[in-house]
Amino acid sequence: MDPAVLPILSCPRCRAGAPFSDLRTPRCSACGLEPASASAGFIDLIDVSVGEPPLTTTEQRLMESDLVARVYDRFWRPTFVRLFAGAGAGAAVGGLSGELFIHKHGLSIDDRPGPWLDLSCGPGAFARALAAAAPGALIVGLDISRAMLDVAAQRTGGYTNVVLVRADAHALPFVDGAFGGVNNAGALHAYDYPELVFREIRRVLRPGGHYVGSTFAEAPSLFGRLAARAAGIRRFAPSELRAWLQRIGFADYEDVRLGGALVFRVRRP
Ligand SMILES: C[S@@+](CC[C@H](N)C(=O)[O-])C[C@H]1O[C@@H](n2cnc3c(N)ncnc32)[C@H](O)[C@@H]1O
Repeated sequence: MDPAVLPILSCPRCRAGAPFSDLRTPRCSACGLEPASASAGFIDLIDVSVGEPPLTTTEQRLMESDLVARVYDRFWRPTFVRLFAGAGAGAAVGGLSGELFIHKHGLSIDDRPGPWLDLSCGPGAFARALAAAAPGALIVGLDISRAMLDVAAQRTGGYTNVVLVRADAHALPFVDGAFGGVNNAGALHAYDYPELVFREIRRVLRPGGHYVGSTFAEAPSLFGRLAARAAGIRRFAPSELRAWLQRIGFADYEDVRLGGALVFRVRRP
């Protein structure tokens, strides 16, 4: 695991910066917290003294399934993107590869230094794309699901610049201004409190850094609306998202529509 991550970590319990001197047997130098070691392929920074975060939605529970994590990129994601955002969401840009292109472009990864955070990385498709695009930069993939991180660890194994972290997006275990950019694909609807996550993203971004996210906007059909409602999928109107992000202190909101989904970008001033 790339030791370049050590200076940007913060302790999930006492919030001290750079709390660990190594990742094999991490121990916080300020409060003594000993998170699970990185031997599983990811470093587990859930504060066990507080307990595991509750899984409040069906989707969150499904994301803990080994089977869902294994079939996610090929089957799960394309099926549900089509169902909840219409055929245009994938077809217009050539499916996941097109979306990856938009996200990489939105982050300006070729022109800026990292490190880069792939927030709620799932099985790691975006983290892999970022690692290939920026071989000299550190890429941190973060997710709360062990099943997703297990698969991400297998699939990013060939990239020495990828570090995987288990943590909650509502309380990111990184120092202020740690990242040059934050990628956050298809996960806003999964958070209990998006506002807290936006504030955390702003905090861990360096001034000038971009936050690129994608989410469900408009329902393509009555069937899609009903299916999304039954699954508890929240939709974000672009005007609502823009006002929300501006209020939190982001600037330069832009978005691209992909059927009923949207990819947006903002900048931390
Ligand atoms: C729909 S998947 C998207 C995965 C990937 N970014 C992609 O676009 O293919 C949503 C991801 O958000 C993660 N997630 C849900 N709640 C989270 C939280 N509170 N903190 C971090 N990750 C979370 C889930 O475990 C899941 O991997």
